[in-house]
Amino acid sequence: MNQAGHRNGNQTPSAVEGAKNRRLLMCAPSSYDLKYEINPWMRLENRPNISLAVEQWNELYKTLYDLPNVYIELIPQNENCPDMVFTANAGLVTGNRVLLSNFRHPERQLEIADFQRWFETHHYEIAAPHTSVKFEGEGDALFAGHVILAGYLKRSDIGAHRWISENLEIPVLSLELVDSRWYHLDTCLFVLNSNLIAYYPGAFDPYARVVLENNYETIQISEVEALRFACNSIVIDQDVVMPSGCPETQASIEAKGYHVHPVEMSEFLKSGGAAKCLTLLLN
Ligand code: ARG
Repeated sequence: MNQAGHRNGNQTPSAVEGAKNRRLLMCAPSSYDLKYEINPWMRLENRPNISLAVEQWNELYKTLYDLPNVYIELIPQNENCPDMVFTANAGLVTGNRVLLSNFRHPERQLEIADFQRWFETHHYEIAAPHTSVKFEGEGDALFAGHVILAGYLKRSDIGAHRWISENLEIPVLSLELVDSRWYHLDTCLFVLNSNLIAYYPGAFDPYARVVLENNYETIQISEVEALRFACNSIVIDQDVVMPSGCPETQASIEAKGYHVHPVEMSEFLKSGGAAKCLTLLLN
């Protein structure tokens, strides 16, 4: 595979990058594997087929790469960090600032140094939460217009929300996650635009559902498709890259004028992830 985003030999990388307004950070699965169990999807006796995972990641990469506004940055995978491919958990980025993650599980804490180095090299202004506060980046914090929707309880602490809000000077709506199968916000909710979200109600406590219903137009995702990670979808303007096998969700989104690109993600589902969490939005 050639270098990310450098699709036109006549242009310098920075000219190409400048023309594209969606930069994503991805990590090619050179050391992806399942070596521990930290969510209900992960079972050591059900390890991913690595060559199939590589194929699926390449297909996701290509699907995103082919979208007109997307520029992809790559971070090399640390061979001791099998989950580092899930770059959504590196932090939360806005402009040239990044709020770095502080992973709940020691198994993933090793990734922080690599991500931090990458952000430093790329001249980001870095803030880290207090060591006692857990925060898993964009996995649990999604921009929805001028608000951040933030999940807590399973991986991120609610204490992180005030820190996010103060650092980015933006309101945060705190949403409690109640089912361990949907342990990150991006496994049960995706934002289509500043007024429209899609979510799986069963993953949220009753008050969080009221907050969502009162603030947004919503599309409710069925349990069957939420279990196939329909909500772990990437929205780039009118294009939505969605795990395959979610025809109802696809139809609801298409009815709103979006163009859906299904991608097979079976080998990442075994680790409790799919399309969205393999990317981090950089702007
Ligand atoms: N195995 C990884 C974990 O449990 C999957 C992370 C998926 N990331 C996400 N943002 N949903 O941490």
